[in-house]
Amino acid sequence: MNYEDLVKKYTALGIKTPTKKMIKTEEQIEGIRQAGIINTKVLDYVAAHIHAGMSTEEIDQLVAKKTKELGGICAPLNYEGFPKSVCTSINDAVCHGIPDPHTILKNGDIINVDCTTIYQGYYADASRMFMIGEVDPIAKRLVEVSKECLDLAVKNLKPFSRLRDIGYIIEEHAKANGFSVVHEIGGHGVGIEFHEDPFIYHYGKKNTGMVLFPGMVFTIEPMITEGSREVFLDASNNWTIYTDDGGWSSQFEYTVLITETGVQILAH
Ligand code: MF3
Ligand code: CO
Ligand code: CO
Repeated sequence: MNYEDLVKKYTALGIKTPTKKMIKTEEQIEGIRQAGIINTKVLDYVAAHIHAGMSTEEIDQLVAKKTKELGGICAPLNYEGFPKSVCTSINDAVCHGIPDPHTILKNGDIINVDCTTIYQGYYADASRMFMIGEVDPIAKRLVEVSKECLDLAVKNLKPFSRLRDIGYIIEEHAKANGFSVVHEIGGHGVGIEFHEDPFIYHYGKKNTGMVLFPGMVFTIEPMITEGSREVFLDASNNWTIYTDDGGWSSQFEYTVLITETGVQILAH
């Protein structure tokens, strides 16, 4: 069925449908795929070099160097005034941590490194957690569960599944393990721009929300916290989000594509 007929079909059922812009063309998908390949290589490079004693500024330099070498551009740099090439968020930092020469990784830290690559105008966005040395068992479990939440959500994705099922699955798994899900920040459409519609909720009710059509490309990036899900914005830089209660936070992010038959991970 073509796009217009699908819209008619689901609208008649009272189900919200994606806009035409949310459906990527073959050419766009190929571009995003290439951006994703570079982004994944950059994160692999970080994984091979991250260590206790290095500064988050050094991570920024690794990401900038590797991305350039592979022909990409770091999307964060100057994005809405963001000052660095990558986000580095440690321990109780939920997301949007700013690399800094005075922030030194130490034994027991957990850190999210979030890279977004532009290649020939196309965007791919992904992040991973890294555990530095010997990590507190609760933090370690949180990191594992946050990855499981994302993988479970992806496993359940298929064409014509519903948007809020993603969040339902994520929050169920987090809560079953005694953890919480941050509600204020979500995933997003990605590809032609850094952040596109739709907003991808990491919580929600089963079998509700927009129907997902083949050709949609978006991120899933649940932020899972040890304690309360409440967060605050660091007023000193207007970027970094922290847990209210100072508990650990963990996040993994993929860029995914809904295909005619299932789902593909374009960046991880
Ligand atoms: N990469 C983040 C995301 O997953 C966004 C970072 S915006 C920046 O959506 F400006 F901080 F880089
Ligand atoms: Co994102
Ligand atoms: Co990201």
